Amino acid sequence: MEITPEEIKLFINTVRSVSEYDFKDYSERSFSRRLEKVLVDNKMTITALVAKVRKEKAFLEQVVKDITVNTTELFRDPKIWQALRFRVLPRFENQSIINIWHAGCSTGQEVYSMMILLNEMGMLDKANIFATDLNTDVLDVAKKGEYKFRFNIDYLDNFDKVIKENPYNYEDYRDVPYSKYFDLDKTKDTLKMKPLLTQKPLFRKQNLVKDGNIFYTKFDIILCRNVLIYFNHELQTQIFETFHQNLFSNGCLILGIHESMLGPVAAKYKRRGLVYFKK
Ligand SMILES: C[S@@+](CC[C@H](N)C(=O)[O-])C[C@H]1O[C@@H](n2cnc3c(N)ncnc32)[C@H](O)[C@@H]1O
Repeated sequence: MEITPEEIKLFINTVRSVSEYDFKDYSERSFSRRLEKVLVDNKMTITALVAKVRKEKAFLEQVVKDITVNTTELFRDPKIWQALRFRVLPRFENQSIINIWHAGCSTGQEVYSMMILLNEMGMLDKANIFATDLNTDVLDVAKKGEYKFRFNIDYLDNFDKVIKENPYNYEDYRDVPYSKYFDLDKTKDTLKMKPLLTQKPLFRKQNLVKDGNIFYTKFDIILCRNVLIYFNHELQTQIFETFHQNLFSNGCLILGIHESMLGPVAAKYKRRGLVYFKK
């Protein structure tokens, strides 16, 4: 189902007029793809969708959730986790506290990956873990830390690459059992994070477009991976500015492996491989 730019505008303006959600600066291409999917799933025309969104708050919330993409996995893109293990986290080893913010954390696998890595490096106790997302459904899953195992078999492979193996020294192999961090139940098809992990993070609803930093603290590391790809250049710039203001002076920002920072705001960061350090 093809939708026109005018129809997209009509939808976005309606949502803005009846809620706090503002998709004005989302990238048009990915937004229209997601909106088309919502129309097909609901078997609706754009006119009917707009009318229903205007009238029914619960339906509006559901549509917003369907439009935002939630894909994630444990140790997604192991290269970045190896960079964190060998290049980034050691810089903070001597600090007494380390503040980490996962912006756009989805169902929480990124948060638990970080905590497993921190624990293996002896840094979990001194870490404050903050995690936010726009979508309260994914946050509920994140808080529980329970996932379908069959969708997550790759997790174990990623875990091995990041936690057990050392890409710089093949003889350095750490035999860390999965059961230290999560329970696998193949008959029930579940992978459940241990309380050691689930009881620590502060998961909160936050809209990156409107809310800025809701935690009244600055951060050593901000991860915002695979979130800003849906935003246009102006909105990305605004958020990179917000992150810059909320990083400590030696802090750094981690983006998704296929994302990069463009324009004048990039001059405020020093890029080292996949990591952006605050200048
Ligand atoms: C593809 S997931 C990325 C999850 C994780 N960071 C990763 O890379 O595996 C993108 C997440 O961004 C969230 N998101 C989209 N727009 C947002 C906004 N304006 N404010 C906060 N979160 C947003 C979505 O709800 C979704 O959970």
